[in-house]
Amino acid sequence: MTVKAPAKSPFTPEQEKTLVAWTKRYPFSNMGLVEALRSVQEWNRQILPEHAARVAEIFALPFSRVWGVATFFPSFTQWKTGKHRVGLCHGLSCWMAGSTKMETCLEKTLGVAEKTTTADGKFSWETMECLGACEQAPALLVNDRLVGAATEESIKKLKEGAK
Ligand code: FES
Repeated sequence: MTVKAPAKSPFTPEQEKTLVAWTKRYPFSNMGLVEALRSVQEWNRQILPEHAARVAEIFALPFSRVWGVATFFPSFTQWKTGKHRVGLCHGLSCWMAGSTKMETCLEKTLGVAEKTTTADGKFSWETMECLGACEQAPALLVNDRLVGAATEESIKKLKEGAK
């Protein structure tokens, strides 16, 4: 797949400056690519082909290279995540500790299926591979924050406490 950068950048002038800065941060420009894509994910809560095409142009890389990175790491999504992105671990320890029940609870409490976002854009949830916190199973990752030993109650509190 090849996508050309759109005539008008999908980024604001300020965001463009940030992306260009990532090309200059390290000895080789492409070393800043993952960080640049992290910024794009944060700004848009997703990375679309037009975003990747513009990043490719800025980094002077082929589109396929940037798109390959954007679709490889689970931190980057092509679907729009909520402002609060909830990851539910479905690794073995968490599964044994009841992650399937937490899956049902997330769907019921947030009112959306996996990898879809609430109408107000606040929440989305998805299953993830082992979060490296098996001793705190079942584990959730809320944006970058780990919530261990999740219960139906903690999921409800998460929703009520979110801004
Ligand atoms: S299996 Fe869930 S954190 Fe490791």
